[in-house]
This record gives sequence, C-alpha cells and structure tokens, in this order.
Amino acid sequence: MSTLEAGASEEPAPQRAAERVLGTVGSERRWADSAESVAANSAWWDADADDYHVEHGEFLGVSDFVWCPEALREDDARLLGDIAGRDVLEIGCGSAPCARWLATQGARVTALDLSAGMLRYAAAAGEATGIDVPLVRANAERLPFAAGSFDLACSAFGGVPFVADIAGTFREIARVLRPGGSWVFAVTHPMRWIFPDDPGPNGLRVTGSYFDRTPYVEVDGDGHATYVEHHRTLGDFVRALTGAGLTLVDLVEPEWPEGLTEVWGQWSPLRGELFPGTAIFVTRRVA
Ligand SMILES: C[S@@+](CC[C@H](N)C(=O)[O-])C[C@H]1O[C@@H](n2cnc3c(N)ncnc32)[C@H](O)[C@@H]1O
Repeated sequence: MSTLEAGASEEPAPQRAAERVLGTVGSERRWADSAESVAANSAWWDADADDYHVEHGEFLGVSDFVWCPEALREDDARLLGDIAGRDVLEIGCGSAPCARWLATQGARVTALDLSAGMLRYAAAAGEATGIDVPLVRANAERLPFAAGSFDLACSAFGGVPFVADIAGTFREIARVLRPGGSWVFAVTHPMRWIFPDDPGPNGLRVTGSYFDRTPYVEVDGDGHATYVEHHRTLGDFVRALTGAGLTLVDLVEPEWPEGLTEVWGQWSPLRGELFPGTAIFVTRRVA
C-alpha cells in the first residue's frame, strides 16, 4: 500500500535503500498510533529521499505543481483558486516543487515536511532555482503556526496518508486557516486499498476489504514499524473534515490521460483506465 512507492507483486521487488537501512523484513496490517507512525515515517522518508528523487524527480520537476501520478497540474486544474498575494501552507512538501511553483505565481508560501532528508532536497532546489520558500520541519498533526495564519493549505500526497490522527490533523489545518480559507489535498483513492499494490494485472484482483481500516505497516526484525500508512474510506474523510469545521466543495478523481505511459509505483495506464488512483478533496473552512 506504500504511497507513491514501488508496491508488492508476486515477483519479490528489489529492496529499496530505505528497507536495507531500516532493516525492513516484511509488512503486516496492524494498529500504529501517532508516536509510532511519526517515528517510522520520519526515518523512512529520511532514508528514502535519494531513491524517491531518482525515481520521481524528473516527473515532479523543480517548480511545477503536479497533483498526482495522473499528471493533473494546478496550472490547468486551478483547484486552489486565486493564488497571487495569498498566504499558502504546503503540507508534506517533499522537495517542495509545488511550493516553488506557487511562489512563482505570487503566493507567500511556507513549505512543511516531517523529514529532514526530504527538506534537504527542498533546500537544495531552492538554492538552485533561486526561488526562496521558507521550509519548516514539523508533524502535520501539530502545526507550529498561530491560528488564522494562512488563506490556503494544500498537499499532494504529503502527510495525510501517514498520520494516525486524521481528525486532529484536519482540526489543526482548520485552525491555521482564516475563515473561508481552502484546504485542498490529494491522497491515494481509498478504493485502491482493496487491491494489491501492483501496477500490472495482479493489481486488478480484489484481495482486501475497503472497510478494513487497519494500517499498513512495514516492520523490522524486531517487529518495530519502519513505514506506516493509514487507510480511510471516503466517508471517513468527509466525517473528519466536517468534524473540523471544513465543508467539502468538490471531490476530484483525475482520469488517466491518453498518452501517459509513465508507471509510478502502483499507478499505471492499465489500472488508470479502469478505476481512479487519486482522490483530491477540495474543502473550505466554514466562516
Ligand atoms: C509521497 S511524499 C510526497 C512529497 C511531495 N508532496 C511530492 O509530491 O513529491 C510524502 C511526504 O509526506 C511527508 N510526511 C510524512 N508524514 C508526515 C507528517 N506526519 N507530517 C508532515 N509530513 C509528513 C514525507 O516526509 C514526504 O516528504
């Protein structure tokens, strides 16, 4: 289920550097609280930062806002509305290409991520491009900002799939937004959790229950989590959003574009033609 990573298949996948460094020996479905999720995912993204950027750096660009493996761009989709002159928070920014693109459009952007390893890529790209975006290392569950600091918050697969406390995270995001502000985020489409994480034909076979919320956890030889990802149904997301005082404005399910051949982890033209891979929630803080 590993987000945006090479997924499980019948052929054993070659080990990623992060798996070697962290001693990952397998995966299971079991509960993992906030502390365990943060510790595991912080270490995972530090250790995976090099591989992630070798694999996906070109697709993501250095100053480009791509929402998802279906290659939907904010420049075309305009899910954030007016950007110029707005205070924007990007959550789970990775190397921060989205934040830099927003800055070029006239936004005042702050880019936040849990992983120092990912933020090192963001700092290097900031220097290389000369597009200066403040970087903050923090957990999305506890945002180090005053109430009402931002007009917009956004995330392309950052943070949300990895936090144990989704209701608390959305409350934090609503808190730092000004009344009427937007929170727009992309995640793996919840229905993908019923299939194995495989871009090929094996990934068309239902093997799990959509209703099973037990997290996907990779573990080391002692059973400690080395990577954690949390599953929520569409209804769970809507309830967590409304509970935080956010209203759902749109739910975008980008279709696989004709001519896009790039496989990204479990995202592929084969699967993209049949069912959605990404869900983008467009929400607004109730005034
Ligand atoms: C799949 S990457 C996406 C990065 C970037 N948005 C992109 O499109 O390339 C997920 C990012 O979420 C970050 N992340 C994971 N858990 C987080 C948390 N609890 N709070 C903030 N960021 C988190 C990771 O460090 C990683 O950079």
